[in-house]
Amino acid sequence: MRNSRRGAVDPFIVMDVMEAARQAEEGGRHIIHMEVGQPGTAAPQGARDALAGAMSQGALGYTVALGIPELRTRIAQLYGEWYDVDLNPSRVIVTPGSSGAFLLAFTALFDAGEKVAIGAPGYPSYRQILKALSLQPLDVQTAPENRLQPVPDDLRALDFDGLMVASPANPTGTMLDAPAMGALIDLCREKNAAFISDEIYHGIEYEAKAVTALELTDDCYVINSFSKYFSMTGWRVGWMVVPEDHVRKIERLAQNMFICASHASQVAALAAMECHDELEANMAVYRANRDLMISGLPKAGFDKFAPPDGAFYVYVDVSAFTQDSRAFAGEILAEAGVAVTPGLDFDPVRGHQTLRFSYARSTADIEDGLARLQRFMAARGFV
Ligand SMILES: Cc1ncc(COP(=O)(O)O)c(C=O)c1O
Repeated sequence: MRNSRRGAVDPFIVMDVMEAARQAEEGGRHIIHMEVGQPGTAAPQGARDALAGAMSQGALGYTVALGIPELRTRIAQLYGEWYDVDLNPSRVIVTPGSSGAFLLAFTALFDAGEKVAIGAPGYPSYRQILKALSLQPLDVQTAPENRLQPVPDDLRALDFDGLMVASPANPTGTMLDAPAMGALIDLCREKNAAFISDEIYHGIEYEAKAVTALELTDDCYVINSFSKYFSMTGWRVGWMVVPEDHVRKIERLAQNMFICASHASQVAALAAMECHDELEANMAVYRANRDLMISGLPKAGFDKFAPPDGAFYVYVDVSAFTQDSRAFAGEILAEAGVAVTPGLDFDPVRGHQTLRFSYARSTADIEDGLARLQRFMAARGFV
């Protein structure tokens, strides 16, 4: 059978780690999961109840392509609640996760061969989806002194048609404050490049509230999801906010690509938005876990990292211990029973000397995982 070149995207290495962890568990070992990038908690009870009610009442057929109007209105209201931004619900598009939003955004904004700049380290699927759409990802190496976020000086000399940022970011958890994001938006305006802001970790922030690009400009695409703060990864529902004059184009693409996001998940998502107490209880766990990580990782010798502003990851420079993060992650799994993610997924150039630790699971797991990491590193003479 024929094969396309654009379909030859790279695998997600974290999936290989998850498979190795699964095999170890099958063999009877107890593994602490610091590799997975998702909440260990279920969708909020209110969301599950709403879906149970809807299931007993109706067919849950297709919805309109842009999403059920009540959900679009409720999402627009969230921008008032979280950021004091007055958002017209007509600009909100409900999507099959933020992953579905990337497909729509990249297709709506760029023609084949155009270049989209992305910060490295960054979420790997940006690069792979761009490639699969015959677009050119342009990895921009970010600097530790900028907390691994892109700054205009990293980009000024480059030729690109779009810039994708994430704040808080995966794998670092670092954020762009308003001046930093504003400077990137200004640069994009100068270069006539589209500015796309992945805000999937909003709500999971610790010291300061995350800034949405919509506080600074209407001339941007903002992508978000119910996966993280709302604890609904497998439900595959997210959203995107686009300029008014892009809505109809996105609608036509969405009609043809997806028809609609899952109706069942849209019902659940709408109810999840009222489950404040349960979601804040999840936040209390992340907050406790983050404190444990910030104090516990250095005791295991892992002290080269920027404390995360949001999300539930710590991205550590492990160059003092290895030049092969994949093999090192394999040894940590085999000897310590802790699954962690090598940085190669996020940064093909420098990721051989970094690891990402996720603290999305229970606090008891984080305590156990840190103790195991400390023993492992002590046995190697690293601490
Ligand atoms: C930065 C970032 N964006 C997007 C996604 C995809 O999320 P979803 O498609 O579940 O909304 C992830 C998943 O981990 C992520 O870390």
